[in-house]
Amino acid sequence: MADPKQAAKAGAENEAHIAVHWREEEYVYPPAKFIGQANLTDPAVLERFSEKNFPECYREYADMLDWDEYWHTTLDTSNPQFWKWFVGGKLNVSYNCVDRHLKKYKNKAALIFVPEPEDEPVYALTYQELYTRVNEVAAVLREDCGLKTGDRVTIHMPMILELPITMLACARLGVVHSVVFGGFSGEAAGLRAADSGSHVMVYADGYYRGGKKIDHKASADIAVEMAKKEGQKVDKILVWRRHRGQYMSAKPMIEGRDYFMDDLLKKHLRKKVAPVSLDSEAPLFLMYTSGTTGKPKGCQHRTGGYLAYVTGTSKYYQDIHPEDVYWCMADIGWITGHSYIVYGPLALGGTSVIFEGVPNYPDSGRVWRIAEQLDVNIFHTSPTAIRMLRKTGPDEPQKYNYHFKHMTTVGEPIEPETWRWYYESVGKGEAVIVDTWWQTETGGFLCTTKPGMDPMKAGSAGPPALGIYPAIYDEENKDLKAGSGKAGNICIRNPWPGIMQTIWGDNDRFTRQYYTKYCKNPKSTDWRDWPYFAADGAVLPADGYFRILGRVDDVINVAGHRLGTKELEAACLTVKEVAEAAVVPVVDEIKGRMPVVYMALKPGVSDPQRVEKEVISVIETLIGKIARPKSIHVVSDLPKTRSGKIMRRVLAAISNTMDVGDVTTLANPDIVEEIRKQVQGTGPVQLKEGPEDVKLFGSNE
Ligand code: WT7
Repeated sequence: MADPKQAAKAGAENEAHIAVHWREEEYVYPPAKFIGQANLTDPAVLERFSEKNFPECYREYADMLDWDEYWHTTLDTSNPQFWKWFVGGKLNVSYNCVDRHLKKYKNKAALIFVPEPEDEPVYALTYQELYTRVNEVAAVLREDCGLKTGDRVTIHMPMILELPITMLACARLGVVHSVVFGGFSGEAAGLRAADSGSHVMVYADGYYRGGKKIDHKASADIAVEMAKKEGQKVDKILVWRRHRGQYMSAKPMIEGRDYFMDDLLKKHLRKKVAPVSLDSEAPLFLMYTSGTTGKPKGCQHRTGGYLAYVTGTSKYYQDIHPEDVYWCMADIGWITGHSYIVYGPLALGGTSVIFEGVPNYPDSGRVWRIAEQLDVNIFHTSPTAIRMLRKTGPDEPQKYNYHFKHMTTVGEPIEPETWRWYYESVGKGEAVIVDTWWQTETGGFLCTTKPGMDPMKAGSAGPPALGIYPAIYDEENKDLKAGSGKAGNICIRNPWPGIMQTIWGDNDRFTRQYYTKYCKNPKSTDWRDWPYFAADGAVLPADGYFRILGRVDDVINVAGHRLGTKELEAACLTVKEVAEAAVVPVVDEIKGRMPVVYMALKPGVSDPQRVEKEVISVIETLIGKIARPKSIHVVSDLPKTRSGKIMRRVLAAISNTMDVGDVTTLANPDIVEEIRKQVQGTGPVQLKEGPEDVKLFGSNE
């Protein structure tokens, strides 16, 4: 272990620095029964995807799709880093996810909806019925809303079947969808609608969550207002009713703006809308995520490359066969849901489960009851959910008769102890586990074991995915080789079909954020000169299994969801009594990380507790409940450098009981001890050690 003093000196403002480290674990080998049926066991795949076969190796994924016109160039690098994939090809995503399966699987479930109320029956939607409904909705979008290829639509919806149906209807027309997580506020949805230039938003009236009826339509009015403030007119709100013919919201429908989908659909029953044959490079969707600045960025994903990548990785790493019952417990409002609930599984003719509720309601057996009832055999979730299920019902899984062949963990590092519970209790020792590391930007998996070929190692994501060539660079551009024991910035040396095209409307930010830092030659059109900077810290042991340490930028990964510290700080500053605010990550037993707010108030504020309450409420409305801070500290001043920069690393060190390091050069060094006492108390404090090797990771913007 490195000297924690050293660690603190290097800076502790980001997640990688407070990474909780565990020792290297032994290999666990995949069960023979799994290997016997796995999609990927042929060792020749390594040769096919070797670096010398790049980029042509990715034909293997593109050939899993039906193309209207085959492409002529696999990868065009003429305009770095705006790579083009499968150039000249034409296809339609909804055709690939729906129509093409009708011949063999029309009578098979495409999606299975599990409502939260247990007395409401499970609903299985066949491919034939999905086809009918996607066509009808496409007719509404085209004929009633006048939407056409290239237009954007913001979809702010919960986990109900109508969400993927609406996404696929957009894809049928080449309308670019931007799905905003249902748990986000109306303000957040409105901001995103404005950024994407959406005139139409799609809502649900309400849904069930944690035993409560949620009035979701109420967010629509707020979103429209917010978009208007940002200069964007939203003229139509389409409202799906959770219960056909009954309205769940207390908010009135606004004449001329709001329309019930079930009313509109009456005119389009059984109508067919031909899938639009789209350029491989046509944008398919935007997914907003947090970055280093206050403004969320719209990651723009393409049609051909994205679909090829999620299809190939769903087949090889999720091991989806049409006869499986696959359940990914993520929300469709995040990239995991797009890639691995909707697009990848459906492109393979899979059966994908959609669960409306929360995992521990009405009790901690719910998830396993669903698994038993539907005979789920592939399960996909996050370390946060696993920790929570373990905490609330460690012995529940064995009470239910289900059998998983395969399980996924995604979104955060998973500690070996949690991994073992997942393996032994949830998987009953029968299931293989993949720990998949990737990001909103990357479309699909970047590091994971090949489930039928590689041993698992608890606590490590694993080797790079096929065709992905990562490297770890330090701040001096030095390549940190496998086994060096040093942590650095993980980068991907090559382009791949799932990588985003750009940040919507901001090509410069795209370049700056991901490529400027390690670009070897800005004039070069050789992809080798343009490594992708992922903003994660990582270490690579000698066996080639990557260990991800966490974000090195101003992003906090809370329960597998990304929050920008700058977004949170901006929200705090909207409360007029707040003079200055700094947000830092703190380790949390269940959620991995949580934000902590430090703020100094303007002079003369008499009621700091009221201000704290207001800050929490503002954060919840502007961003969402998931951003609720773990604690708020009102302090007399924030530690600053002589040039006035707030030293977040010092605050992070205090919140995580790590050494604050040398603070003598600060403009106000005495404040550090004052804050430390305020947060940790006056007694002796046992410092936690930092990661085994900590380097100075710079923020890149
Ligand atoms: C960030 C991306 C990937 C879809 C869900 C999150 C962290 C993701 C892992 C993993 C350790 C992980 C990284 C990454 N992360 N997967 N298996 N092990 N860390 O997508 O919201 O874009 O967040 O999540 O820090 O940068 P996202």
